Amino acid sequence: MKIDGTWYRSVRVDADDGWSVRILDQTKLPWHAEWLRLTDEDQVARAIRSMQTRGAPLIGAVAAYGVALAMRRDPSALEEVCKRLAGTRPTAINLRWAIERMRAALRNLPAGDRVPAAYAEAAAIADDDAATCEAIGRHGLPLLQEIAAKKPNQPVNVLTHCNAGWLATVDWGTALAPIYMAHDSGLPIHVWVDETRPRNQGAALTAFELGAHGVPHTVIADNAGGHLMQHGEVDIVIVGTDRVTRNGDVANKIGTYLKALAAADNGVPFWVALPHSTLDMRVADGVKEIPIEERSQAEVTDLTGRTADGRIETIRVVAAHSPAANPAFDVTPARLVTGLITERGRIAASAEAIAAAYPEKLGATA
Ligand code: MRU
Repeated sequence: MKIDGTWYRSVRVDADDGWSVRILDQTKLPWHAEWLRLTDEDQVARAIRSMQTRGAPLIGAVAAYGVALAMRRDPSALEEVCKRLAGTRPTAINLRWAIERMRAALRNLPAGDRVPAAYAEAAAIADDDAATCEAIGRHGLPLLQEIAAKKPNQPVNVLTHCNAGWLATVDWGTALAPIYMAHDSGLPIHVWVDETRPRNQGAALTAFELGAHGVPHTVIADNAGGHLMQHGEVDIVIVGTDRVTRNGDVANKIGTYLKALAAADNGVPFWVALPHSTLDMRVADGVKEIPIEERSQAEVTDLTGRTADGRIETIRVVAAHSPAANPAFDVTPARLVTGLITERGRIAASAEAIAAAYPEKLGATA
């Protein structure tokens, strides 16, 4: 991730003390870039729950470091801390994947060896995510190049929902990785950024990171995408995902399904970018089986923003006595997905294509 010309990772071990964990507090963006220092697993659990850190691959990597911090305090607490961190958010499978990988790496080690092994495994998870996202970028780039070739001297218009950029991963992002590569290679590109109510990850985070990288973009109300598609203003939709089933159903931020419907109705390609850690081979039917996180009503009834004189304030926008519902994710059935952009190439959103691309995962269907 590039902020003011400097490259950062979204999670890293503090360079001064060599053990605490630094994350960018995403609840403060886009107003302040504040690096939080996490020193124990309680702070890590709170940061994930409160969405100071968020995005499917990133919460996996941060939770892995949470296990490492817990091992410093008490190496015998492995099972308890893994269970606790896995319960912080339910929909993104990457969280459980990373914690399971930590557990597998540590559980057969004597207590005295667990701390260095935990840091090494967490670093391997973070490195894997950064390399995976870079590969997703390379495999997604030709999609944008093909569109550009058909409309010389005009920008390729991409629509994205939520935030699936470097703020949601260790580096690069998933849906945004091909966009950064296209922009860096000189391809004219423009991104329609869905604001992504209720938490505004598009307006607050995607717009922030695209702007920091210099990528032309426009924030739109969540309901504008269908209209833009009807008028030929969207060449392609690319989104990230929190869980993909073995049949290719896609869970992502609430509202993604409606974009997929509009894209299908208008013949706009709808692509989903994901790392291997987002595949859940144990689940077949996403609509029936993926647990959907229900978050606080306050995220719907209230809005937080900066006043003209620079104060950050929260205001209520819903009548005092009206209740609100806040399902945080929805599932887009595989039939509405043009294809998946993975670190192993572009594949169909189908059981056959997923099994062929990830044969080693086939054992995990029970
Ligand atoms: O609730 P969030 O902000 O964690 O939701 C994030 C998303 O829905 C992203 O699109 C998804 O995690 C993919 S991130 C590469």
